[in-house]
Amino acid sequence: MALKYINHFNHLLDDLEQRSLKRTLKICDSASAPVMTIDGQAMLTFCSNDYLGLANHPELAKAITEGLQRFGSGSGASHMISGHHRPHDVLEKALAKTQAAFIPEVHALFFSTGYMANLAAITAISGSLGSNQVMSIYSEELNHASLIDGVRLASKQNQAKVQVFPHQNLSALEQLLAKDTNQFKLIVTDGVFSMDGDLAKVTELLKLADQYDALILVDDAHGFGVVGQHGGGILEHADIRNTDEAAARIIYIGTLGKAAGISGAFIAAHKTLIEWITQKGRSYIYTTASPPAMAHGLLKSLELMSDDSYRASLNKNIQHWKKTLRLNKWSLMPSDTAIQPIMIGKTEDALQVAQQLYQKNIWVPAIRPPTVPADTARLRITFSASHTTEQIDHLIQALMEIEHDL
Ligand SMILES: Cc1ncc(COP(=O)(O)O)c(C=O)c1O
Repeated sequence: MALKYINHFNHLLDDLEQRSLKRTLKICDSASAPVMTIDGQAMLTFCSNDYLGLANHPELAKAITEGLQRFGSGSGASHMISGHHRPHDVLEKALAKTQAAFIPEVHALFFSTGYMANLAAITAISGSLGSNQVMSIYSEELNHASLIDGVRLASKQNQAKVQVFPHQNLSALEQLLAKDTNQFKLIVTDGVFSMDGDLAKVTELLKLADQYDALILVDDAHGFGVVGQHGGGILEHADIRNTDEAAARIIYIGTLGKAAGISGAFIAAHKTLIEWITQKGRSYIYTTASPPAMAHGLLKSLELMSDDSYRASLNKNIQHWKKTLRLNKWSLMPSDTAIQPIMIGKTEDALQVAQQLYQKNIWVPAIRPPTVPADTARLRITFSASHTTEQIDHLIQALMEIEHDL
């Protein structure tokens, strides 16, 4: 009888395979870098989120090693018990500083992952109301899965009233807000959209939040360290100032496994909001604190990230790519960030192109539903400060050849 379950899942897995939706893991035998060893083969890669090329920086390895020697391998407990070590505290203060020019009286809370930070922020904020009130949540159509899951949890646990607004359509959002008589509202959006690469219109969103008295959560996983003149992220890019009272409405999420080159995430917001999330964020409270050595390493990441030359190299690479690539059948999606997707359309076609690139020892992932909407399968090409112009030219040449021969 137990085989009933095995047969059930085998059937579902076969179905995924037939619809070209079954994902497979590739095992990397070398560090994150433009050229990586996959199954014994050197592959030129354009798929990591290691935007500044820090994931294999010797200074970070040194800092983490030093952290391991001083603080051991594990934190030993959750933050609220005995797992909150000095490096966690120092890191939180440093992270808050990165957003201090944009958010008034800002504090920061460090998490093991961005997924957990999003769950904590959305559920703690929406769970703050008494029995006869609920939060209205306005969620951007193309938000990351972790925001979607946070919003779904808020709907189930806290009866939040959820409405999804179309991508970048602020007049649709405004119409929804204008009709809402609810006193408590939360707008939720990616800062840089992870599968498209475009930027949320944060200035306009903040204006709407202010006009309709809402909080606004911005998940800047792909913007922190990358956008803004000094890598401060989307709030720096949008020229948000802490002197504007409306900026106290912002709940900023930055992640630390992408541009920062290690792992983890943080929420930065007015100190009262941070205190509330610290008290009520279940994915903060009920989990083991990440190793203090990682926090120690992340302090070094912040130091390296403040060097504008990494962003200058990354932006040079993005400009070179946009200037040189010429496509006939496919289209490059409008993006100025390190995420430069090429829209293909059909899942099978996107997979075929990714496979042909792979045969040329170039690794670019095909992104398919459900990660992206049906018929919008794409190649998600990402650049790093460490790519060379020759490597980018090699990719362009291969893409143009494959497009021509299809
Ligand atoms: C927009 C966005 N938010 C959150 C996350 C989750 O962050 P983490 O990988 O730290 O869990 C990701 C990707 O990983 C992301 O792309």
